[in-house]
Amino acid sequence: MKFDFETIIDRTNTDSVAYGIDRYIEASWPGVKVKDGIDPIAMWIADMSFATAPSVVETIEKRLSHPLFGYFSAPDEYYDSIIRWYTIRHHYDGLTKENIGYENGVLGGLLTAMRVLCSDGDKVLLHSPTYVGFSGALGNVGYKMVLSDLKLDENNIYRMDFDDMEEKLSHGDIHVAIMCNPHNPSGRVWEKWELEKACALFEKYNVYIICDEIWSDLILPGYQHTPLFTVSEYAKTHSVTLCAPSKTFSLAGLVGAYHICFDPWMNARMAKESSNTHYNSMNLLSMYASIGAYTDTGAQWLDQLLTVIDENVNVALDYVHHRLSGVKVSKPQGTYMFFMDCEDYCKSHDIDIDTVQRRGIEHGVIWQDGRNFHGPYHIRLNLALPTALLKEALQRLVNDVFVD
Ligand SMILES: Cc1ncc(COP(=O)(O)O)c(C=O)c1O
Repeated sequence: MKFDFETIIDRTNTDSVAYGIDRYIEASWPGVKVKDGIDPIAMWIADMSFATAPSVVETIEKRLSHPLFGYFSAPDEYYDSIIRWYTIRHHYDGLTKENIGYENGVLGGLLTAMRVLCSDGDKVLLHSPTYVGFSGALGNVGYKMVLSDLKLDENNIYRMDFDDMEEKLSHGDIHVAIMCNPHNPSGRVWEKWELEKACALFEKYNVYIICDEIWSDLILPGYQHTPLFTVSEYAKTHSVTLCAPSKTFSLAGLVGAYHICFDPWMNARMAKESSNTHYNSMNLLSMYASIGAYTDTGAQWLDQLLTVIDENVNVALDYVHHRLSGVKVSKPQGTYMFFMDCEDYCKSHDIDIDTVQRRGIEHGVIWQDGRNFHGPYHIRLNLALPTALLKEALQRLVNDVFVD
C-alpha cells in the first residue's frame, strides 16, 4: 500500500501550535511580520506536516464505536505492541511488561527520573547543542546543566568529546547524564561504539543515565538505532530510557510516552515518584493510538515516511551545497531536523544572525532560532513536510534570505 506524504494539509484553524504562527513570531521576533501575500510554512517545532498512519486512526475509531469511556487499565496488548516494536524495529527481544512504565510525556518522564536520581539544584551532564526542551524543563526546576560540546570531525560528523566529558565527570559532583539518542538537533544516530565509550565513562564515575530515545524510529536509510541499554550491563542497570510513538506518528496532541527500566529498584522509584502528582495517567484514545501505530501497517507507513524524509534531507543538502553560499550543515542521520550553521554567511555579509532569521520569517519560512539549542549562528529547520513545500521554502531562502 502506498501512503500519502505529498498532499499539503491545511493546518490553520486546527489548534496546531506549529501553525499558531503569529503567537510564535511575537514571542520570538517581536514586531516582525510575514509579508502580505506570502503563505507561512511552519518549519520550527518538532511536529510533522503529515497525516498519521491509517492504522492509528482505524484503531481509535474502532474504540470510539463503543460509547463508554470510563476508568480503564491498559491491556497486555498495549505492552505487547511495544515489546514487539522493539523486536522488529530495534532488534531487541529482551523487553517484558515489567520493564515498561507509562509516562504522560518524555519530558515529564525525564523530570521524574531526575527527581529519583538527584537532589534539587544538582548538576547534570548533557551535550551541546542541546534540545531546547531539556534546557527549559531542567532550568524550570533548578537543575544545573553542565554542557559538553559535540565536535565536528574531519568528515563533518558531530562526535562526543570523551576527554571533555571525562574532565567534567572527574570532579565527582555529577551523578546523572542525559543522553539524546538519536540526537536533536544535530540528527546524529549514535553508533554502538560511541554509546559504549560514553557508558564506560558513566560507569567509571558512577553516573546514572537518562536516555531520551523519542527519535529512535526516525532513522534514515543506512543507519541503525542502538538502544543505549543494550550496550553494556552497566547501561542496562543504571539507565532509564524514555520513548514514545508521538514524534514518529504525529501523535503529540494525544499525549502518551513510556519509560523502559531494567533495574527493579529504579522502576519502583519511578512509579512512586510519578504517582505523587496523580497526573501521570494514560488516556484511553492515546493508548489505542499507540497500539495502532506499533503494528505492521504502522511499520510500512514508517518505512515510506523515512524515504520521504531522506529525500527531503538530500534536497535540502543540495541547496546548502550549491545555492546557499555561507551555510554549513552536518548531514542528519536521523530525526527530521536540519541544524544550519550560518556563521560564514553572517560574517562575509557583515550581518548578525537575527537579521537572517528575521528575513526568513518575513518571507514565511517559519524556522527556529538555533541559539535556543546553544548554536551561536544556527537555525533549526524541520524537514518533515511535503517535498514540494520544502522546495518552495528553500527557494525563498535562495531568493530572499541568503542574498548577496
Ligand atoms: C529529544 C526530545 N525529547 C522530548 C521531546 C518532547 O517530548 P514530549 O512531548 O513527550 O515531552 C522532544 C520534542 O521535540 C524532543 O525532541
